[in-house]
Amino acid sequence: MSELWVRVCPESELAEGEIRSFDIEGDTILLARYGDKIFALEDTCSHDGAELSNGDLINSQIQCSRHGGRFDLETGEATQMPAIVGIKSYYVEIKDGDIYVALKK
Ligand code: FES
Repeated sequence: MSELWVRVCPESELAEGEIRSFDIEGDTILLARYGDKIFALEDTCSHDGAELSNGDLINSQIQCSRHGGRFDLETGEATQMPAIVGIKSYYVEIKDGDIYVALKK
């Protein structure tokens, strides 16, 4: 399996505290800017399929808007019930002012 780096958007288009969803090569992935870092996660809650990009950023986690499950922004690990299964996380890089995400293909 190899990594495919895909340009998503200019870094300037994602404000502090913002969460946005993107369709990237057929995967729905959210980008979130929290503090001085940008994170990329699968945009589907493992509990009941809600779009996590409708949630909130709290203490380095994203909280699902449907039932309040939480996931670690860095690893995608489930950190609060009712979510118990983690979600995919993706490597992020900033190059020449643009955000890139690594997909495993
Ligand atoms: S759908 Fe996300 S916590 Fe239930």
